[in-house]
Amino acid sequence: MASSSKEKKKAPAKLWGGRFAEKTAASVEAFTASIHYDARLYKHDIAGSRAHAKMLAKQGLISVKERDQILKGLGQIEREIETGIFVFRPELEDIHMNIEKTLVEKIGPAGEKLHTARSRNDQVALDVRLYLREECHNLIALLSGLQKSFVVLARKYEHAVMPGYTHLQRAQPVLVAHHMLAYYEMFGRDRERLSDGLKRINVMPLGAAALAGTGLPIDREFVAKELGFPKITANSMDTVGDRDFIIEFMSAASLIQIHLSRLSEELVLWTTEEFSFVTLADSFCTGSSIMPQKKNPDIPELIRGKSGRVVGNLMSLLMLLKGLPMTYNRDLQEDKEPLFDTVDTVSQSVAIMAQLLANLTFNEARLAKGLGGGYMTATDLADYLVLKNIPFRQAHAIVGRTVAFCISKGKELTELKLAELKKFSEVIEGDVFKVLSIDGSVKSRVSLGGTSGKMVAKALKQAEKELGIKP
Ligand code: ARG
Repeated sequence: MASSSKEKKKAPAKLWGGRFAEKTAASVEAFTASIHYDARLYKHDIAGSRAHAKMLAKQGLISVKERDQILKGLGQIEREIETGIFVFRPELEDIHMNIEKTLVEKIGPAGEKLHTARSRNDQVALDVRLYLREECHNLIALLSGLQKSFVVLARKYEHAVMPGYTHLQRAQPVLVAHHMLAYYEMFGRDRERLSDGLKRINVMPLGAAALAGTGLPIDREFVAKELGFPKITANSMDTVGDRDFIIEFMSAASLIQIHLSRLSEELVLWTTEEFSFVTLADSFCTGSSIMPQKKNPDIPELIRGKSGRVVGNLMSLLMLLKGLPMTYNRDLQEDKEPLFDTVDTVSQSVAIMAQLLANLTFNEARLAKGLGGGYMTATDLADYLVLKNIPFRQAHAIVGRTVAFCISKGKELTELKLAELKKFSEVIEGDVFKVLSIDGSVKSRVSLGGTSGKMVAKALKQAEKELGIKP
């Protein structure tokens, strides 16, 4: 943003100054201004004004010549902002008035006609909808990239086995690919939620004017078409007071960040000496200023930490709406900073996580070591007994006693002799050893959505198809 040092000594007259006898207090100007953050809506504000000006000309509310002057002026302003020479003036409050006032200064009376049949209340709603529509599409693309990272890892470690956990206690062996594809599913739902929210973001608000609509002969359908909106808002009062679409987005974004945070927690654990399941590339870690040996997982830690602000931003928006009477209230200006912060934080987090995953290796030897203890095939033994006609609850108790025996002897289930196993149940035969093995356990989970190689291969193929990647 260009500095305002070039500012004129005398403050420019306010666009709404007609009924005011006194100059606005400087403290009030500073307090009410939003230009320092809503300047980022400039492209959307100009796009909206272009469509509006074309509509006004088509409806005979301005002449074709005036329209062309407006379009030319807006083009100049856009270039000035893009090249950093535009001077943003805080006393003009926000992006809408900064652009409009500059337009009037550039082209004169034609510029004064741009705001015909429009209020900043429907204008800001339009700008935010245009902005969020774009950001939603960006985020959906970033999420596909993240999903792709999981699919690539799943393919790379398709046959590797790792301990699966419940309560962070070793539970049952699973394929690494199965674990990766769990995240593929989570982020797939996140994508769906964004796409669904887009249906309610992608609705054209302009024409609601201040709150009641306008008596001037506008054509809302035309504006919607110009700006690529499939739908037009139905009620002018709702249109200028509605921020539901932002809250929906921020809930979906919060869930994305929470999913990232869960993944981060796993990565933090997995990179410890204690787990050592994965190694992150040096380029994706940082060191300690005092402990020379340290290689810290700061990226997952920061992503986990940033979930606080993303969820906090959602809370801010909910509280912002609570108790607001119809229709537009200036409180609503407070929607932007949390929204922008959430968009930035979540987009950056998704992008860097995708890169980090591409720079991660699983330590297969350590994973195998992790499969040794924990009696992870105990459920398989219980299922084995069930297939020999023992009711599951009895089977559960039998295996429980067997595990307790193993613990007392410091042995694994696979280390027991058949005779020892038979003491716990007569039905146990030599075929039990296949069932007790890690590979046998994984292979047996053929239920739909289970971790057997067969099921995972199917899921992986499906995921690759969905993302359009060739194995
Ligand atoms: N900067 C304002 C906002 O973000 C624009 C709308 C102002 N409308 C008004 N009636 N003061 O909400």
